Amino acid sequence: MLAIIGGSGLTQLSCLAIERREVVRTPYGEPSGTLTFGSIGPQQVVFLARHGHGHTIPPHRVNYRANLWALVKAAGVSDIISVASVGGMRPDLHPGALVVPHQIIDYTWGRLATFFDGGDPGVVHVDFTEPYDRALRERLLCAGDAAGFKVSGSAVYAATQGPRLESAAEIERLARDGADIVGMTGMPEAVLARELKTPYAAVCVVANWAAGRGDSTSSIRFDQIEPVLHESMGKVKSVIEHLCAATV
Ligand code: HPA
Repeated sequence: MLAIIGGSGLTQLSCLAIERREVVRTPYGEPSGTLTFGSIGPQQVVFLARHGHGHTIPPHRVNYRANLWALVKAAGVSDIISVASVGGMRPDLHPGALVVPHQIIDYTWGRLATFFDGGDPGVVHVDFTEPYDRALRERLLCAGDAAGFKVSGSAVYAATQGPRLESAAEIERLARDGADIVGMTGMPEAVLARELKTPYAAVCVVANWAAGRGDSTSSIRFDQIEPVLHESMGKVKSVIEHLCAATV
């Protein structure tokens, strides 16, 4: 079964033929909401809205451990696709662009970011050289091709703490570090999936130019984000449908 974690702009998945919903409790507390089980074409899917159904949980308050535990240990998923909105920093990653990142830099702080917090399993260090699963990224990129959309397959994702957006100088610094896109939820989600040995990849929608980027150096216009997200999330759904059709 495939898990899809929906972010801003994707609180429900209209292409999912819903079969049942389940409230899951975990040793790490409550996930962001109920798990919605169903199918997309031949593929069994479980969907979870990262920020809650009413979009009420900000990025720094998402219970990432409960979400990942619920999907992997309770629902038993084999792969996880994260859908997320990001700011674009590279000229080709303009608002509306779709991206499957290949690397992450973590700037978040104060989040509960591991299942290995001492105690029984002892001290565990997981390998995170390639933070996203290569095969699952490939499947997303093939699905993007099949859906007829340009999807960039190479981008470094900077995970920032939020909930505020960045200053222009912070974005300059992230760019100097080698980042191409910036979002607030990529970590610790990716590493928790790795700790649970579950393939994880992300498909990101560029919602806006990151602070100080693009054709304007003035402030970010929130009224311009919503229509971009709406259109591009439609494309993401199509990519996911093609991925599901190609599975099984
Ligand atoms: N910065 C951080 N996170 C984001 C942005 C941004 O500009 N846009 C969407 N998520």
